[in-house]
Amino acid sequence: MNHYQKVAEMYRSHPLSASLRSIRHRPYFRSVLYGCLLIASVYVLYSFVNPTYPVSTYSSFSRADPFSGDLAESYLPVDETPADVWRGRAKSVKLAFLHGYHGYERYAQPHDEIRPLSNDFIDNFNGWGVTMYDSLDTMLLMGLDNEYNRAMPFIEKTVFTLPDGEFAPFFETVIRYLGGLLSAYALRKDDLLLRRADELAEKLDHVFATPSGFPLFGVNPNGNVVGPEIGILAEIASLQMEYTALAKFTGKKRWWDRANTVIKALDKAELNKTGGMFPIRWNLTSAQPFDTHLSVGAQADSTHEYLLKQYLLTAKVDKANLIMYLRATTHIITELLFLSPKRHLLYVTDTTFSTNEHRGRPSHTFEHLSCFLPGLLALGAHTLPLDDLASLGIDLNDLGNESMFGISGEGYKLLAGYNLKSLHMWAAEGLAQTCWLSYADMPTGLGPDEMLMHTAGDDRWGKTVDGFKDGGGYLWMDAIEKWKASGARGAPPGVGDKTPVIYTETERLRGSGRARDYSIRKSGYLLRPETLESLYILWRTTGNNKWRDRGWKIFESIERHTKTPSGYASLRTVEVLPAVKDDDMPSYFFAETLKYLYLMFIDTDPIPLDKWVLNTEAHPLPVIEWSQAEKDTFHIP
Ligand SMILES: *[C@@H]1O[C@H](CO)[C@@H](O)[C@H](O)[C@H]1NC(C)=O
Ligand SMILES: *[C@@H]1O[C@H](CO)[C@@H](O)[C@H](O)[C@H]1NC(C)=O
Ligand SMILES: *[C@@H]1O[C@H](CO)[C@@H](O)[C@H](O)[C@H]1NC(C)=O
Repeated sequence: MNHYQKVAEMYRSHPLSASLRSIRHRPYFRSVLYGCLLIASVYVLYSFVNPTYPVSTYSSFSRADPFSGDLAESYLPVDETPADVWRGRAKSVKLAFLHGYHGYERYAQPHDEIRPLSNDFIDNFNGWGVTMYDSLDTMLLMGLDNEYNRAMPFIEKTVFTLPDGEFAPFFETVIRYLGGLLSAYALRKDDLLLRRADELAEKLDHVFATPSGFPLFGVNPNGNVVGPEIGILAEIASLQMEYTALAKFTGKKRWWDRANTVIKALDKAELNKTGGMFPIRWNLTSAQPFDTHLSVGAQADSTHEYLLKQYLLTAKVDKANLIMYLRATTHIITELLFLSPKRHLLYVTDTTFSTNEHRGRPSHTFEHLSCFLPGLLALGAHTLPLDDLASLGIDLNDLGNESMFGISGEGYKLLAGYNLKSLHMWAAEGLAQTCWLSYADMPTGLGPDEMLMHTAGDDRWGKTVDGFKDGGGYLWMDAIEKWKASGARGAPPGVGDKTPVIYTETERLRGSGRARDYSIRKSGYLLRPETLESLYILWRTTGNNKWRDRGWKIFESIERHTKTPSGYASLRTVEVLPAVKDDDMPSYFFAETLKYLYLMFIDTDPIPLDKWVLNTEAHPLPVIEWSQAEKDTFHIP
């Protein structure tokens, strides 16, 4: 057991502390030099070069019902915003990217991130220049070849080493650095990018020194590894897409083996205590769950995401991932979704089972990080035959039979009787609505990082009225039946549009406001992408302009409240004006937040959802079809 070094406590208290490094000041003359470069580059600002990646044929939205039957929104609102206004908005996002990235180049390159208030820099992700790696594909999509070309010499020169005693956090390094390199390679086919990706994976490979083949928390390229025996779901199982793409691009079986080992371990795990869903903690020796804490937020999110996305990435042939996705979403929909008491806000929370409890106990926290879920559900509803699983030889009843624990098995049987496509789409719409309201309710127009939802008893979206066993139905199923019977037009419970509630300053100070149905746990806005990600996918999959109108409102708030002379800054709180900024601009702002905004506003989709799959850091990877030769070499059935 000695390869599990004793850092569990430190790691638990601060997952990134292993890699946090001191902040050093760079020589002043560099700033002056970059200042001159910046002035020069102002002239380039307005010369927007057309993208050089291959643009696939774009089919406009069918106005046909994205849902099914009579439950659909039967018409789509007409977009009153002219096309050239949308084009102007896309251009504004591109200018925002340039503003922030030029600040990084001027004050922080080749370090990890710029501190946008002090113009200092920070090396918080290995010090290899994470902002550059995370930004490459966004530059290519935006046609910013000058910035891309300026980054390439740095990418070429990065030395993937760390001082003794420091460790690269494997998960973050894979999704940001490896994902960034692979995606830029897919868009630009520059061999240097692939060479560096292959080399990086090589340097990280010691991390797999566990009996299960799940990675440890951290690795030093010198071969030392670090991390507790009990691993965190998102950190041990969010590498499948990157390693699959790396295997495809390099032709190396060993990278596919890394991905496949994780997929197989997940598939074999015993989930009868958690209703078929993966809990957060895992034993890296036995490859089995270690607790019963279920969440789609922090520490869990991207693993659920990669079930669907790995299936899509490998051209929908890998049924194991599909079935795991159906299990996870069935449990989420029946057990983790709740309605708030007054506004009927649909939200997703985390649950924990204690001994002898047949249902998880909800915490009623609702995290901004969970706001990727509506996008994922919409992507699934859009790409999978959820209303005809039989066509794939899948019966939800059977999935629920497999010694699932108590109530969840019932949930499968119940859902099996309904149109899963509509159901997933409603959940997506309702959740996205709440994520959006968490922005619209705030004076800054930006959403808090974590909320605590008010409750009134057991208000699961899928709660029983009279209990399962006595023929009672799920509350929302009943409500939907009634809603259907009434001939109502509009949305099922928890799904329709709602009016924002902005508290007065007195209500905020006294904490007396109740009308919102939630209180705020963590009031910062960390320039996070999840809500925009979901608005983007809902816009793409439904064609309903309301989603991108909201995206534009959020962008306006970002411009108004987070902009600094050298970039954009996280907010300490979204609840007060004028907004109070933090000295922090995470690299995902370039990789994800601005990319989703840009993709939402441009009129030609360069990475259609049926040809590209975005990793959890929004790095697009092309759908991969294995050739017969690859199947033979990699032993893919
Ligand atoms: C879960 O499955 C395992 C192995 O299949 C079995 O030993 C265990 O009793 C099951 N537990 C429950 C609660 O059904
Ligand atoms: C992890 O699993 C192994 C093998 O089953 C077991 O020996 C070990 O005690 C487990 N670790 C913990 C912390 O439970
Ligand atoms: C699963 O349960 C359903 C009814 O709940 C039953 O019709 C079906 O045959 C069962 N399947 C298996 C494989 O046992």
